[in-house]
Amino acid sequence: MDKIVILTGAGLSAESGLGTFRDAGGLWAQHRIEDVATPEGFARNPGLVHDFYNARRQQAAEAAPNAAHDALARLQRDFAGDVVIVTQNVDGLHERAGAQAIHMHGELARALCAVCDHRWDAPPQMDTHTPCPACQAHAARPDVVWFGEFPYHMEEISDHLANCTLFASIGTSGNVYPAAGFVQEALYAGAETVELNLEPTEISRAFHSRRIGPASRTVPAWVDQLLGGAT
Ligand code: APR
Repeated sequence: MDKIVILTGAGLSAESGLGTFRDAGGLWAQHRIEDVATPEGFARNPGLVHDFYNARRQQAAEAAPNAAHDALARLQRDFAGDVVIVTQNVDGLHERAGAQAIHMHGELARALCAVCDHRWDAPPQMDTHTPCPACQAHAARPDVVWFGEFPYHMEEISDHLANCTLFASIGTSGNVYPAAGFVQEALYAGAETVELNLEPTEISRAFHSRRIGPASRTVPAWVDQLLGGAT
């Protein structure tokens, strides 16, 4: 049976109005990674980190899935084989489009207790007084994976990659490992590989083919092809 593994990144949600990280004017041009996306930054100034993620949680809640999210949900529903979506995005837009995704970098909509590891649905705004519903500690953090931390579900993802027949990377710059190495794992498995991105990336050469353009255009066309419809 065919098995498609799709890795998605911030470019998929760009046309929903959510900023990417490394494009001109992106999030990492406006904020220092070490301040807002590391455990050390959170230990130094948790209030600043909460403010950053509160704003992103609100933006994500106000955004809507775009045609690319919708097309991937359609592919997952209608494809005769298995379609596994692995996302680095924390915005929840795959689910709001009706798809299921493996969240390797966590989710803005979830909170994690730094004391007892309990996870729960995050309130719209969190701060240093937000109590853990399990242990009552005031050590709530966003359940997102920061630099220096291990991404989630890696074993499950590696198993999927080892069995996939087609691997697609959509809207990700290929700068952050381990996700940037997934194409190599898929190649070892003998899979066909395709990159869909606004522009060529650092790792474009690893792919058998490339589709350049905005995701809202390239992804529905690619899905149509896979489902045997228009090209
Ligand atoms: N359609 C398709 N691709 C696009 C679009 C679009 N409309 N807009 C931008 N892109 C592409 C950019 O050209 C870029 O290659 O999306 C990519 C976004 O790259 P990054 O900003 O680096 O985002 P991402 O790859 O998801 O980042 C990976 O880095 O900081 C961390 O944890 C964060 O999950 C994130 C990880």
